[in-house]
Amino acid sequence: MQEFDVVIIGSGPGGYVCAIRCAQLGMKVALVEKYDSLGGTCLNVGCIPSKALLDSSEHYHNAEHNFKEHGINITGLKADLGKMISRKDSVVKQTVDGINFLMKKNKITVINGHGSLKDKSTISVKDGKGKVTEIKTKKVVIATGSKPSGLTGVTVDKKRVITSTEALTLKEVPSDLIVIGGGVIGLELGSVYARLGSKVLVLEYLDSIIPQMDKTLAKELEKSLKKLGFEFKFRHAVSSVSVKGKTVTVKAKDLSKDAEVEFKGDYCLLSVGRSAYTEGLGLENVGIKTDERGRIEVDEHLQTSVEGIYAIGDVIKGAMLAHKAEEEGMFVAEWMTGQKPHINYLLIPGVVYTWPEVAAVGYTEEELKNNKVKYKVGSFPFKASGRARASMDTDGLIKVLADAETDEILGVHMIGPRTADMIAEAVVAMEFRASAEDIARMSHPHPTYTEVFREACLAATENRAIHI
Ligand code: FAD
Ligand code: NAI
Repeated sequence: MQEFDVVIIGSGPGGYVCAIRCAQLGMKVALVEKYDSLGGTCLNVGCIPSKALLDSSEHYHNAEHNFKEHGINITGLKADLGKMISRKDSVVKQTVDGINFLMKKNKITVINGHGSLKDKSTISVKDGKGKVTEIKTKKVVIATGSKPSGLTGVTVDKKRVITSTEALTLKEVPSDLIVIGGGVIGLELGSVYARLGSKVLVLEYLDSIIPQMDKTLAKELEKSLKKLGFEFKFRHAVSSVSVKGKTVTVKAKDLSKDAEVEFKGDYCLLSVGRSAYTEGLGLENVGIKTDERGRIEVDEHLQTSVEGIYAIGDVIKGAMLAHKAEEEGMFVAEWMTGQKPHINYLLIPGVVYTWPEVAAVGYTEEELKNNKVKYKVGSFPFKASGRARASMDTDGLIKVLADAETDEILGVHMIGPRTADMIAEAVVAMEFRASAEDIARMSHPHPTYTEVFREACLAATENRAIHI
């Protein structure tokens, strides 16, 4: 029987990053993955493929709507969805190949098959042909991720009623796409198809889109997406979805009017969140506890209720984000080998890859109000930025929330061009506990979108914005 220092179950951004860090720290590592392809949700059916399609559809949208203004005239413009999907597949393949290379480079043993805990130190792995192999280990890291959540009354047939996974491989552009859930997946994948010509209707249970983010961002994004043709119905609770031929009928309760309503489309995307995935993992064999939402319970060192068994990423509490899973993967590797790692969960940024992009870190204004923190606000719009005018990306703003007394930055909320990349500056600033004035006094290259962040910091510092 093969023996390892650590066996990691699941090869997503949590698992594979943990494996590499463990190997770097001298451990003998095995990575167990039930699919043939490494990289988990993120690389195969999540972050990477969705961004590939977002980029392709954005190019098409610009060619159709914005090129003319730049003096570029095109005739016979046509979107080739098949080509977009095959390019996306090739981006995924290149990325997965990169992980295969990293596993070899770090001498990590990859075992393909469904892993389950037989006991604290024995993992059994069942491969695609049903053959079971057992391996021994000193420690275990569970990184089995998540799967799309279901909804009572909705059967996902994977043809007309789909999840994000199917939305990444559609054969045609829907004419009327009904999206259940105005969160990240619904808005990103809704954007892909809206840009390619679908009419997109979003049914959201709450009274705003991206409800966990600062309300200013939700309002701005709603305006931009409406320009793209999105329609929103808030306070709508979906009760059933039925399919007849090519028609999908979605029934919902309009909570504002207390009335039953009905919508028809040709596709329905169910995107109401994701749930921890622990199926067939054998948690009961070792006594690992889960919470009321089926997530594995962990302590402050990400150790489960069983000593020597850790859990990371989407399968535990917290934001379901690839970079959060990565942080936890590194944390566990370092903790297991005697280091003293630290994760500041407040400073894990959140991004929505719509256009304009939405990005945020730290406290929202609503949280500061609820926590009775005295704060000040500095805000600056992209329409006052020369760089944004040059690229015709004038929607959006950056809002900086700083402590009223100390000026320390408490939250940064961005919506605008390339904010997904720009939020990293705010993370660095907040990790070093910068004040708004610290950023306001630092040179930012001109002309760039980053000047908008500086101007928002100037605005937070005694209302000193220059260009407005
Ligand atoms: P996963 O990536 O889910 O990996 C878990 C792996 O474990 C899977 O490969 C699974 O097959 C394997 N597994 C499960 N059980 C077993 C078992 N018993 N034995 C063996 N293997 C097993 N996050 C971002 O930060 N940015 C984004 O832009 C972004 N975009 C997304 C877009 C979409 C459409 C979706 C669905 C998600 C997106 N996410 C994004 C979320 C991100 O994908 C997840 O947060 C991330 O993948 C979680 O990583 P993980 O390692 O915890 O789990
Ligand atoms: P989500 O949690 O972002 O959004 C789900 C939305 O559905 C919420 O607004 C919720 O109020 C709504 N909802 C719930 N039940 C409903 C009902 N019955 N009827 C109508 N609306 C309902 O979940 P989503 O979009 O499915 O994404 C899952 C996870 O994947 C997210 O938590 C996110 O972390 C991750 N992800 C991250 C991305 C990124 O970082 N850019 C991109 C895509 C996904």
